Amino acid sequence: MKRRNFVKASSTIAATALMTGLYAWQIEPFWIDFEHVKMPVKNLPKKLIGKRIMQISDVHVGNDFELDFLINAFEKAKRYKPDFVFYTGDFISYVNAKQFKQLTKVFKHAVKGKMGTFGVLGNHDYGYRWSQIKVANAVTKILRKSGIGILSNEKVNIRGLNIIGLDDYWSPRYNPRPILRTVNKRMANIVLCHNPDVCDLNVWNNYDGWILSGHTHGGQCKPPFLKPPILPVKNKRYTSGKFDFEDGRTLYINRALGHSKQIRFNVRPEITLFKLDKIQHDGT
Ligand SMILES: [Fe+2]
Repeated sequence: MKRRNFVKASSTIAATALMTGLYAWQIEPFWIDFEHVKMPVKNLPKKLIGKRIMQISDVHVGNDFELDFLINAFEKAKRYKPDFVFYTGDFISYVNAKQFKQLTKVFKHAVKGKMGTFGVLGNHDYGYRWSQIKVANAVTKILRKSGIGILSNEKVNIRGLNIIGLDDYWSPRYNPRPILRTVNKRMANIVLCHNPDVCDLNVWNNYDGWILSGHTHGGQCKPPFLKPPILPVKNKRYTSGKFDFEDGRTLYINRALGHSKQIRFNVRPEITLFKLDKIQHDGT
């Protein structure tokens, strides 16, 4: 290759790499995708057909310069006027008590459902080594004050829909069995569970409904048509989107609104909107 051609080719490669890097660092992490998903639920009361559930996951409040992005995302999400809003954990990226102030500031603008707003904690809400109960209690207190019902291995019934919230798999409060034993299969049920790896454990007591998760962030970066190389789960099938277990359970993994490291490529941040429907006789 002639020297001139070599210099030209090298500068094109360098420019492309720079543009891709800038895109992955400055654009995609803040470019929200609103995903629309149908949600057929067994035994759904007639009055809930057509109602909309919004799922927001892994907000990861932690950096001062990202607070406005999160607040703006909430304001955009409010335009959809969801009937229910479910938050599936990792509200903060804990470093120190500063995150409590940041969380209060962001969640003053929290998206709330007309019929109810609930959530579960994720591993990051438990501070260092996912083990600080005091951090989790502070996060829970702020969220409850903001109007979000945090469910720690608990359930609530709102107009005929059971919302069952499991506490985080990696936390000291992981204990899903007792609450899952109480699930009435003749009612409409939805489970919130931060870490999808729980789906592979023998705790479900023949549960046969939807499970909403987060935690993976979709891997944050992935080459086109291939799976993301880094996923914080044991079961590497659990990337993002919908999974039908063919035992009655359907898992949905949200790609996260926030991020742990500010880099995303081909995995845009997500807010999900589910439209509730009754289940058809053929199971669809
Ligand atoms: Fe997360």
